[in-house]
Amino acid sequence: MQLTGNTILITGGATGIGLVLAQELLKLGNEVIICGRRRNRLEEARAANPGLHIRVCDVSDHMARTSLLSWLEDNFPSLNILINNAGVQHLYDFRNSTSNRALPEEEIATNLGAPIHLTTLLLPLLERQAVAVIANVSSGLGFTPLAQVPVYCATKAALHSLTLSLRHQLRDTNISVFEIIPPLVTSELGSEHRPEEVNKSAMPTEDAVSEIIAGLENDTLELAIGRAKNLVSKREELFSLMNAG
Ligand SMILES: NC(=O)c1ccc[n+]([C@@H]2O[C@H](COP(=O)([O-])OP(=O)(O)OC[C@H]3O[C@@H](n4cnc5c(N)ncnc54)[C@H](OP(=O)(O)O)[C@@H]3O)[C@@H](O)[C@H]2O)c1
Repeated sequence: MQLTGNTILITGGATGIGLVLAQELLKLGNEVIICGRRRNRLEEARAANPGLHIRVCDVSDHMARTSLLSWLEDNFPSLNILINNAGVQHLYDFRNSTSNRALPEEEIATNLGAPIHLTTLLLPLLERQAVAVIANVSSGLGFTPLAQVPVYCATKAALHSLTLSLRHQLRDTNISVFEIIPPLVTSELGSEHRPEEVNKSAMPTEDAVSEIIAGLENDTLELAIGRAKNLVSKREELFSLMNAG
């Protein structure tokens, strides 16, 4: 696909993969809009990247999503790329419910409910464009789960499944459907509950985004990045290794 002259929404684009992707797409000559819950992070991103558009939006909230759609229709009627990137990851121990600080509902709403509803809401706008893209950011953990974050992994497995169905349903339209499958990268997501040595082994976010950009340009619809290629291809063997003990 042509990665210039597009109008792109990246959910959760104020930090991590979304932010680096926003910066690169901005440099390539696209209009880029990012959204997230923390206004300060959005404003910091805009201050560092003149031309970036920001919108406070909690994508886990139904009303916030519909309000985002109205704002986009009014301000960015040429929007042709939706990147469902916002995500959260929480520990969840089925055998010790007091340790479960976060409710799985929030994780499911953010990682799965939001992409489903945003896709549904934005589809008529995307259908009006000459060329359009929906890209869902899943995870290698959607293919080989890490048992300490089971709800996260399940939402990403579901997002993979959803992407296959969406791609099939839209096969005869102007809309291409990508799945971006990152490995462990050096972002904030989940870093607080991983051992230091595991965090040190993470792929630099900038390198992951370079591969994402190349894959989008080459129309690689199932875009596994770095070590996620192994997680996708060697699922059963890796599950035993990752969850030993
Ligand atoms: N990091 C990894 O190793 C890794 C690996 C595979 C896949 N991924 C996926 O990559 C995507 C980006 O994650 P990241 O690694 O870049 O981590 P990150 O820096 O934590 O980015 C996640 C972003 O999502 C936003 N977000 C979370 N909940 C939201 C909500 N309800 N509404 C709107 N925005 C929300 C966060 O901003 P606010 O908190 O301000 O809302 C944050 O900017 C996620 O889907 C993640 O699952 C990450």
